[in-house]
Amino acid sequence: MYNVLLFCDPGIDDSLAIMYALLNPKINVVGIVSSYGNVPQQQAIQNVAYLLQLAGREDIPIISGARSPLSGEIAIFYPEIHGEEGLGPIRPPDTVQREVVNFDEIFKIINTYAYNLYIVDVGRSTSLAIAFLLGGDEQLGKISAFYSMGGAFLVPGNVTPIAEANFHGDALAANLILNKGRNVFITPLNVTNFSIIKPENIELITSQPFNAFTFLIKPIFDYYNTAYKKLDPSLSGSPLHDVFTMFALVNPDKVSYISREASVSINFDNTKGQSIADFRKRSTESISEATDHIAISFNYDAFIEDFINVMTMRYN
Ligand code: RIB
Ligand code: CA
Repeated sequence: MYNVLLFCDPGIDDSLAIMYALLNPKINVVGIVSSYGNVPQQQAIQNVAYLLQLAGREDIPIISGARSPLSGEIAIFYPEIHGEEGLGPIRPPDTVQREVVNFDEIFKIINTYAYNLYIVDVGRSTSLAIAFLLGGDEQLGKISAFYSMGGAFLVPGNVTPIAEANFHGDALAANLILNKGRNVFITPLNVTNFSIIKPENIELITSQPFNAFTFLIKPIFDYYNTAYKKLDPSLSGSPLHDVFTMFALVNPDKVSYISREASVSINFDNTKGQSIADFRKRSTESISEATDHIAISFNYDAFIEDFINVMTMRYN
């Protein structure tokens, strides 16, 4: 069982990753840090609260994350991909009210699950960087591994010609995580662009009321898929970047990595957010905890099979 502290910015693929995690018997979600990113922080919190209410998992703490990047830049949101409120055409009911806990809950969780806790970060890395700055190695050294969705190594970016949205959204924070984190697994666009879920997969997943999320999945996916179709009409479906990252954590044998020290351009020019690593072959490889692991390929059939299995789980 993987104990997971999730950092996210829901967002449609984040929301599907939350559903996937809550439904997956291999995953124990122990807290969700909700921050700005695809939508403003307050909206992201509201969306997490709604999903947890649907699942009857109000026991999972929602931690109030960052509202803007470390640099002080103004955050850019993406309603054209995720909807005005982050769930495509769905608006969480106003009746969803949840107590949000303070940031220091992160350190309480780290100490409760010390050395048996995974951090999965599928949003801008601001909140995780702040946790590093506040807790240092003394606290963050107790994390078994970090899984970070971000970057685009030697492939085009999705928000600039070279940068991916999470690394570009807070390049300073992303670079800090790669520098300070130990056992960091990066899932960049190199792989997540290929984690394509097709409309027929969604038809199957929503063909019966399998669980409390079934009714949400089709409308939010359709919204996202329409946006991706506009971006690239040749796509047969849409990439679920954040779901892939959760899949990678619990299916380590289905994903291949190249181990290199990686960094992120923190220059405020057209390289901002660029993910950088030296992929040249070396005669001797020295891998330490400081080496990052960059996902480079995966078993697509296994991804689809696992996604369908998990999303059709009957909850409770
Ligand atoms: O580039 C993909 C990432 O940006 C995903 O985390 C998605 O949710 C968006 O924020
Ligand atoms: Ca995200």
